[in-house]
Amino acid sequence: MRFRPSILKETLKGILMATRKRVVVIEGDDAAPEAVRPTLELLDRLNLNIDWLTPPIGDQAKEGYGSTFPEQARRAIDESDATFFGAASGKSTAALFYLRFGKQTYANVRPVKWLPGFKSPLADPKGLDLVIIRENLEDLYLGVEGEIQELDSLNLTSPFTGEKITDMVPGRYALKVITEKGTARVTRFAFELARKRKEQGRPGKVTCATKHNMLFRSDGFFREVAQKIAGSFPDIVFESLIVDDFAHRLAANPQQFDVAVMPNLYGDILSDMAGGLIGGLGLAPSGCYGENYAYFEPVHGTAPDIAGKHIINPTATILSAAMMLDYLGFKTEAERMERAVQKVYAEGRTLPRDQGGSATTEEFAAAVKDFL
Ligand code: IPM
Ligand code: MN
Repeated sequence: MRFRPSILKETLKGILMATRKRVVVIEGDDAAPEAVRPTLELLDRLNLNIDWLTPPIGDQAKEGYGSTFPEQARRAIDESDATFFGAASGKSTAALFYLRFGKQTYANVRPVKWLPGFKSPLADPKGLDLVIIRENLEDLYLGVEGEIQELDSLNLTSPFTGEKITDMVPGRYALKVITEKGTARVTRFAFELARKRKEQGRPGKVTCATKHNMLFRSDGFFREVAQKIAGSFPDIVFESLIVDDFAHRLAANPQQFDVAVMPNLYGDILSDMAGGLIGGLGLAPSGCYGENYAYFEPVHGTAPDIAGKHIINPTATILSAAMMLDYLGFKTEAERMERAVQKVYAEGRTLPRDQGGSATTEEFAAAVKDFL
């Protein structure tokens, strides 16, 4: 057979297309777009095989399409490999909840790693490198709340006082749900991550934080399921702590932790606290992973108080982008991005205001670009 260069060309093109990824960008609200835009410029410099989709979401979508989360936006997410999200206030929360519940992104991964140059309030932050994995879809986040009166037919009484719940009106309730499936998949995710980190020299430990000494049945179940999963990972140390004890240890000696897994609300609260330990939420990235989708966003909110000032620290957003690159298979580029951020902090010449410097968001991003 004669060699035909066109076949080679077609094959190469095919391989290239197969590795080409589609990512939805949602800039988010208030100050969030100010951190997202320079991050996109950094991503652009890496010459990635990524098509960026920017469907209408939030205020601008409301004007043109009559909804903050129109059908086009949902379709774009469904047709993409991942979403890169700024941060949501009221306007983009419909999109956020679709990315969580619609795409079943059950593991909210929040790495908390101190880097030299981060302005930590701790006397000795050296070696602080933990990951909080927050169950992302259950617990009190089911959104089922109501008037106590609605529970009438259930005839519930408090086991402590014997009082009928419906005699406590007026008042409201919120439903906390812990399922076997939801807990098993997120704890398995935690063990797998601990295993991967162990290969890179971390201790290989999973800490489960629950209030099982009070919420015997719900949090007790989370702990029980986690313990069962631990049985399949004999190479990883498993530790179960009461969540208030975990909070104390987190403040007093966070270096003792590697990977921590917990129900949704505790994870929400404690990941903000853990962000404070390394120097603030401007430094804390996150990724939410499902079976076949993931989205990435900083842990922080939309910072409305500094919107328009171009002083938001984009580090959390840039590191979230690096997590996304890793997820999409661009491992070298993810490392390049992380290393560039590390260098800017180690050098300490161009730091954002929350880190004791005077750089604007754009100036900081330009410093990262110089090290890319
Ligand atoms: C977060 C946020 C959200 C949460 C809000 C915006 C609903 O605080 O991602 O941590 O509580 O999950
Ligand atoms: Mn939060």
